[in-house]
Amino acid sequence: MKRIAVIPGDGIGPEVISEAVKTLELASQIHGLDFELTTFDWGAEKYLTTGVALPDGALAMLSADFDAILTGAFGDPRVTDNKHAADILLGMRMGLDLYINLRPIKLLNARLCPLKGRDRSDVDFVVFRENTEGMYVFMGGNFKKGSPDEIAIQEDVNTRKGVERIITAAFDYAREHGRRRVTMSDKSNVLTYGHELWRRTFNEVSARYGDIEAEHLYVDVLAMWMVLDPGRFDVIVTNNLFGDIITDLGAGLQGGLGLAASGNINPGQVSLFEPVHGSAPRFAGKNVANPIAAVLTASMMLEYLGMKEAAKGIEAAVEQCVEAKQTTGDIGGGLKTTEAGEAIRRRLHASE
Ligand code: NAD
Ligand code: IPM
Ligand code: MN
Repeated sequence: MKRIAVIPGDGIGPEVISEAVKTLELASQIHGLDFELTTFDWGAEKYLTTGVALPDGALAMLSADFDAILTGAFGDPRVTDNKHAADILLGMRMGLDLYINLRPIKLLNARLCPLKGRDRSDVDFVVFRENTEGMYVFMGGNFKKGSPDEIAIQEDVNTRKGVERIITAAFDYAREHGRRRVTMSDKSNVLTYGHELWRRTFNEVSARYGDIEAEHLYVDVLAMWMVLDPGRFDVIVTNNLFGDIITDLGAGLQGGLGLAASGNINPGQVSLFEPVHGSAPRFAGKNVANPIAAVLTASMMLEYLGMKEAAKGIEAAVEQCVEAKQTTGDIGGGLKTTEAGEAIRRRLHASE
């Protein structure tokens, strides 16, 4: 039996995760899946009322008792320093050593692409975002804070181990999934220490994969090519911060953040699945958020757990709903969050 921790989180998180969970439960019925869901109330509300963000012992408990974690989003306007989100989300990414942030950029329907004359085959690549270091390590500090002479330092940490394992994961993925090219993106022309390490490591690792084309692009020109010719990409590998930015750009190519799924993975260990989007406070409680990103995230999680048939079934049902415009307003439909979730589940039923 697979054990799944569900952390709905803040804002629209609970609304979209509720649809994802109902979809998982139906897929379980249809495919006879063997999993158990346990919900945790970690998020802004708990933090504001009890002072606890990630409870003591939570990471050890997740590692020992669970196979996967499904989360919504963390972020609340009442927590202005975002402390609870850093403790919970980045705490799990780093504390569970989830070094691969896998973010597929896949167009579900040509109509949704903001670029002229593109079809589904033009937007179909995956991003391997380094997920445990870089600019996300909270090393640094302030000197003379609040004064006109203030200094703020934020360190960018790149380790040989961290860089090598994410680049290797990208090449392994390319090989296993029939992808022909891995593009590594950095800013080594300016960040001549940290990103030169990326450049050197990429050259060394790529030499071990003679069957895969290795390409290097500076991140500024990568951003241009993502818009002008997204079809040239198969697998992109990059650091934590650049990966964050280019995957929202990638979400734009897919039709918006309402559609983008992701997995925070340490192969063979408990891994965390979450939509790329955040808590979208403006939409919270209104039943308008698109549940597709969360539903596709749940499908990625099933695939990770080896339940591939069920994962494919969910993807197909989502594609059919998008085609039929049975969706929320962000991608041109007229449905509420709950109705869009229901429409996906009707398609799943129909395919039984
Ligand atoms: P956001 O992703 O929450 O929303 C940005 C915009 O994207 C929204 O205004 C909306 O137009 C669109 N959008 C996002 N999700 C959508 C959905 N499901 N359906 C339809 N449209 C959707 O980003 P933000 O406004 O920059 O951040 C809000 C809060 O979320 C902040 O506190 C931020 O730190 C946090 N955040 C959390 C995560 C996470 O937990 N993984 C990710 C990103 C942002
Ligand atoms: C994401 C988010 C997070 C990140 C924030 C909320 C810490 O933007 O998952 O893309 O920057 O990684
Ligand atoms: Mn982001």
